[in-house]
Amino acid sequence: MALNWDDSLLVGNTEIDDQHRQIFVHFERLSLACQEKAGELAIKEILNFMNEYVEMHFSLEEAFMAENRYPKLPEQQEQHAHFRQTVKELQEVDTNTLEPHRLSLLFYQKLIQWFIQHIKKLDQEMITYVWAQQHN
Ligand SMILES: [Fe+2]
Ligand SMILES: [Fe+2]
Repeated sequence: MALNWDDSLLVGNTEIDDQHRQIFVHFERLSLACQEKAGELAIKEILNFMNEYVEMHFSLEEAFMAENRYPKLPEQQEQHAHFRQTVKELQEVDTNTLEPHRLSLLFYQKLIQWFIQHIKKLDQEMITYVWAQQHN
């Protein structure tokens, strides 16, 4: 499972890249907590903390897109909403009933893989578009 940050995830905007990196730090904490069999409370706390950070990130991105009149803002908003829904569902999971590796896999599939896809498709496309607009 590749969950470490790697530079193929860079979008080319320092603020957004720093936030994406930070989100991956939260993911690593989450996966470590699973491996270390941290209790439900500890895992939920990391999940909540990650959620707050991601919320702030989504708001910044959406404001950035609105400012730059990015035409695919609705698609981004839809995907961000989908992620929020996933986090809500994960917050409801009784983590004590799952084997640590199953829980870790669940986070990997639902959060990390989703984020990698989202950055590589939508976020990189957004920055490329705005950069081209600004340099025309
Ligand atoms: Fe993003
Ligand atoms: Fe995004």
